[in-house]
Amino acid sequence: MRRAALAGAFLAAVVGALWLARRLQAAEQPIAFNHKKHIGAGLECGVCHEGIAEGRVHAQFPRTEVCMTCHSSEDNPKTQAIRDYAAQKREIPWQRVYSVPKHVYFSHERHVGIAQLDCAVCHGDMAEKATPVAYQAVPIKMARCIACHQSRGVTRDCLACHR
Ligand code: HEC
Ligand code: HEC
Ligand code: HEC
Ligand code: HEC
Ligand code: HEC
Repeated sequence: MRRAALAGAFLAAVVGALWLARRLQAAEQPIAFNHKKHIGAGLECGVCHEGIAEGRVHAQFPRTEVCMTCHSSEDNPKTQAIRDYAAQKREIPWQRVYSVPKHVYFSHERHVGIAQLDCAVCHGDMAEKATPVAYQAVPIKMARCIACHQSRGVTRDCLACHR
């Protein structure tokens, strides 16, 4: 009995620590943005992540002006913060969740534009994401980059990614 209770307490402590570790790592977005609603409304990723549509290296976060094209003249309290940022001529301080270290080169143009990979391969199914992005649905790991490059016959030369 005692032993079972102790084991239970230990398990609870481990689960609690894991939960806390994830909370501490989780990014807090400034506005409760909902991908599911916007993608469900028929919006393409590139409307907001303009780099994708324009074939740039970075996908980029949306400019306040883009949000304002639909949310400038309504009185929904859930979107008031957008109008506040716009009135102050400020960009919304979106927190970056996906990034590679400085010594790594990654290009969206190469993977989305040329290789025609689906965003979901590296970011999970955003069309089902109803809460702001807080952690990497698909972790960025060198082993993953290399596994895909190997399976598709793409370079695994260190200097292709480390420049
Ligand atoms: C092309 C039009 C369009 C653009 C651009 C757009 N939205 Fe929306 N937004 C909508 C629609 C449609 C809804 C859903 C309205 C509803 O359900 O009542 C919505 C709802 C919202 C809501 C309320 C969410 C909720 O749970 O009800 C927020 C917050 C929001 N948008 C933020 C943003 C932000 C931030 C941007 C810029 C990154 C943005 N929107 C860009 C059309 C747009
Ligand atoms: C092969 C994997 C891969 C695919 C496919 C991919 N991404 Fe990314 N994405 C990444 C990586 C890696 C980063 C971090 C890049 C960095 O730090 O420069 C990233 C970063 C981002 C960011 C953060 C801002 C930025 O520009 O770095 C956004 C937004 C994003 N991706 C959106 C998209 C969208 C939208 C698509 C599909 C049109 C897509 N990604 C397809 C791997 C991918
Ligand atoms: C209406 C605007 C809008 C559309 C359309 C949109 N996004 Fe986003 N996206 C955002 C905003 C705002 C954020 C930052 C807030 C958040 O994390 O939810 C974001 C964040 C992301 C991130 C996290 C980037 C990081 O490093 O934090 C990814 C990945 C992403 N979007 C992928 C996509 C994909 C894939 C699509 C299309 C299937 C898409 N988005 C469509 C506005 C949009
Ligand atoms: C799901 C598959 C996949 C994943 C995951 C992936 N790549 Fe790629 N990558 C490709 C393909 C396919 C190409 C070739 C595109 C082309 O034809 O230019 C490519 C090309 C590249 C190139 C250009 C190579 C050259 O010949 O100069 C670099 C750099 C690169 N990837 C870096 C990365 C990094 C860094 C990651 C991980 C963060 C990554 N890739 C993850 C599929 C992938
Ligand atoms: C296809 C892209 C790609 C190739 C090829 C690649 N790397 Fe990496 N590498 C990455 C990415 C992305 C990271 C950062 C993510 C991580 O640490 O897993 C990284 C991280 C690293 C790190 C830092 C690890 C750490 O713990 O901080 C070292 C060291 C490294 N790579 C060495 C190499 C060497 C040596 C080669 C050649 C044998 C190589 N890489 C080939 C993408 C690549």
